[in-house]
Amino acid sequence: MRKINVFDTTLRDGEQTPGVNLNFEEKLEIAKQLERLGVDIIEAGFPASSPGDFESVKAIADAVQESSVTGLARCTAKDIETAWKALKGSVEPRIHVFLATSPVHMDYKLKLSPDQVVESAVEAVKLAAKKFTHVQFSAEDANRSDWAFLARIIEATIDAGASVINLPDTVGFTTPEEITRLFKYVRNNVPNIDQAILSTHNHDDLGMGVANSLAAIEAGAGQVECTVNGIGERAGNASLEEIAVALEIRSDYYKAKTGLKLNELKRTSSLVSRLTNMSVPGNKAVVGANAFAHESGIHQDGMLKNKETYEIITPELVGATSSSPLGKHSGRHAFKTKLAELGFTGSQEQLQSVFTAFKDLADKKKEVTEDDLFALMADATFEADEVASYELTGLQVNYGTMNIPTATITINLPTGEQLQEAATGSGSVEAIYNTVERIVEGSCALKDYRIQSVSGGRDALAEVFVKVEIEGSEQAGRGTAPDVLEASAKAYLNAVNRYYSRSRYLQAQQPIKKEVNI
Ligand code: KIV
Ligand code: ZN
Repeated sequence: MRKINVFDTTLRDGEQTPGVNLNFEEKLEIAKQLERLGVDIIEAGFPASSPGDFESVKAIADAVQESSVTGLARCTAKDIETAWKALKGSVEPRIHVFLATSPVHMDYKLKLSPDQVVESAVEAVKLAAKKFTHVQFSAEDANRSDWAFLARIIEATIDAGASVINLPDTVGFTTPEEITRLFKYVRNNVPNIDQAILSTHNHDDLGMGVANSLAAIEAGAGQVECTVNGIGERAGNASLEEIAVALEIRSDYYKAKTGLKLNELKRTSSLVSRLTNMSVPGNKAVVGANAFAHESGIHQDGMLKNKETYEIITPELVGATSSSPLGKHSGRHAFKTKLAELGFTGSQEQLQSVFTAFKDLADKKKEVTEDDLFALMADATFEADEVASYELTGLQVNYGTMNIPTATITINLPTGEQLQEAATGSGSVEAIYNTVERIVEGSCALKDYRIQSVSGGRDALAEVFVKVEIEGSEQAGRGTAPDVLEASAKAYLNAVNRYYSRSRYLQAQQPIKKEVNI
């Protein structure tokens, strides 16, 4: 079996998902869970892109011991120096430099000739290799590049000191057959290719991200780059859990394995979903709520006779079996042990806040599951960032088939004052959102609304995910509550608070640096 290195970019490419803004603590919490999952390399961010990214990459590099931590950098001395400052404390300092190699990127975006691109990449790799133990070079938009040119830049960057060469399908354009030919071509046409690990990085624009990653592995890639739940720019990146489980279940075919602890997959997916405020579709392979549900009578009958009739992946394999829940009588000790098991890294104050929320919930709900606790943990982790925010203190909704739905809401404003407002709508949720929009500053508009129950049962917590456009930018929000309307109100306010918390932070940093988008 070949060992495939898993390079997780949830905290870098994944964080480029529209509306997703993780704060410092949320990033650290995800990094700790990725370490526990057994990810080989964690791409913690892009240190030169903003002071916030620099700080979180540094904190992750200093905290993580079992995985290698890396950060993205353009081919400039300044980016490489900033990445070094952030990553030098890590167990195995590693950098990821990138430069585009396709004609459309070189001509229009970079305005550089192919010779200048090679020169710039070689200089950057040489500089990085003076400091970092491992240097990865990515030829951005590799799949739309000229293959002979790719072979040239790969050979030159390996000579300059790159130990990993990544060929990203930046726009999700390639196909499994084509990527297979590309990887074979590179292996056969780059004389020094044995001195580097080949890596694959696939976006999912045509829904082939995972298939392309597996094809590249089959054609010789020794590293695969992916994100938890497949989050990322546009249609996202290849999904980590799908690649890992495909390699495990079809090891007879791929003859390759990752070093991941697969039974941490479901837990990692839940954590990332909650902290990014992105719900996982029920039919999502491996981690969706329905991934192990058998609905048809014929299937259920087959399962009872022999599980192998319809089940190729067991829920146990990916940790999707329910662990022992906590309840009303669980004490602080059991609670703390469970939270430690879930990788909670928050302060004493946050622990206390989750404990209080847990006790409230346990009064209303017979069993408090791991997923419920993730939901509470996610709330506490964000609250730490809410210095001044909108806080829901009262909600009343009048609904009946014969009258106009009306919501009355009381909110503590960021200024400390309290305000009460009311508005109508064509339904209860619309009435709530119309009321909230009267209260909060700036222009807001709801773009997406999803609701799910956190775990099964009539007393399950409701969890609402929203996307709100605020002052022209999209912001995701999440709210949980025993009641669906309260969860709806909380989700909207969470999006608003996240937006203002981030813009406050950015204002405080100015004029140090403006954010960089790749
Ligand atoms: O998709 C891409 O090309 C990237 C690079 C920065 C590696 O994410
Ligand atoms: Zn990417």
